[in-house]
Amino acid sequence: MPFLSDTLARVKPSPTIAVSTKARELKAAGKDVIGLGAGEPDFDTPQNIKDAAKAAIDRGETKYTAVDGLPELKAAICAKFKADNGLDYAPAQVTVGTGGKQVLYNALMATLNPGDEVIIPAPYWVSYPDMVLLAGGTPVIVEGGAETGYRITPEALEAAITPKTKWFIFNSPSNPTGAGYTRAQLKALTDVLMRHPHVWVMSDDMYEKLTYGDFEFCTPAEVEPGLYDRTLTCNGVSKAYCMTGWRIGYAAGPAGLIKAMGTLQSQSTSNPCSIAQWAALEALTGPQDFIASNNAVFQRRRDMVVDMLNAADGITCPVPEGAFYVYPSIAGCIGKTSAGGAKIVDDEAFATALLEEKGVAVVFGAAFGGSPAFRISYATSDDLLKEACTRIQDFCASLT
Ligand SMILES: Cc1ncc(COP(=O)(O)O)c(C=O)c1O
Repeated sequence: MPFLSDTLARVKPSPTIAVSTKARELKAAGKDVIGLGAGEPDFDTPQNIKDAAKAAIDRGETKYTAVDGLPELKAAICAKFKADNGLDYAPAQVTVGTGGKQVLYNALMATLNPGDEVIIPAPYWVSYPDMVLLAGGTPVIVEGGAETGYRITPEALEAAITPKTKWFIFNSPSNPTGAGYTRAQLKALTDVLMRHPHVWVMSDDMYEKLTYGDFEFCTPAEVEPGLYDRTLTCNGVSKAYCMTGWRIGYAAGPAGLIKAMGTLQSQSTSNPCSIAQWAALEALTGPQDFIASNNAVFQRRRDMVVDMLNAADGITCPVPEGAFYVYPSIAGCIGKTSAGGAKIVDDEAFATALLEEKGVAVVFGAAFGGSPAFRISYATSDDLLKEACTRIQDFCASLT
């Protein structure tokens, strides 16, 4: 009898974490490596948020809380949805978990039966397909290629829907591409969903506040109120508030679904960290001005990286609307050979050779279901980004 479960055999470890680990190992071995794999802001958590956590400890807020979130935090989340998205949710329609990841996982675990299909646009955040598999469902990948700016078309969504479709996962701005859907582009997708009342929508709005220029964020339940009763709107404090380590995410949706997710959480992790919840309350209700100043830095870096990558031989890099990733196509590099003798047969070969020959760690596109390309996280210093892009230009110039 095998010791490990069949469930585990269905999933693979996160490739983005694998890249960061490899870059760290090479660095520890004395190699000059620039890691561009991390999916977290390089800015520290704002001081008022840290102070709120310290005050919570001093007040003795160190006990179990309500399983799916403090009432004070839920009230702040309701206010956030109203103010930012025009969405009315009561506290019983809100759940708080240990990061956005747990919230998404709870929703899938609470709803998927064997054979249920989940539509996932590609390139996708690495965890979606594996979470679906863990929950016993079947991921159905819909390609959003470089020619559509890494967005799926309404026709492709329509074609992917079957009687077994339970969820459509939507993520804008996207990890890994940074692509954001305009209101009109999203409306075209929600029009399709309105024709299929059995399909639920899981909107992962994790990068809502990280958008640049005149791009305006929008979310499905707001764009199409007819979807409100079958949409789970997910968000969290990890990215916008520089709180990846604190592990607080949240979602709002129909009360029955929220209750089921709470039941699951009550028998797995119970409440998210009490102290982190008080910190998240301060994040949502305290000063928000640092977000704009962080975004100005991100936008400057995005523009520099896109310009430098587009100047590299064989690379084409679209300008993303949000998040802190760029997703250049390397179609022009495929079939070439590196100075070190590596055959660039695909994006994994490109990323491996780039790391070994130039010490730049990026995540290859196949990990996100979108090839041939790679993802750069620009949540690192301007100097490191400039050096990394120079090395990528040198690497591309050396390909023959
Ligand atoms: C698209 C997307 N959703 C959800 C998450 C999970 O966020 P958290 O760290 O709050 O679990 C991430 C983190 O990388 C993400 O990129």
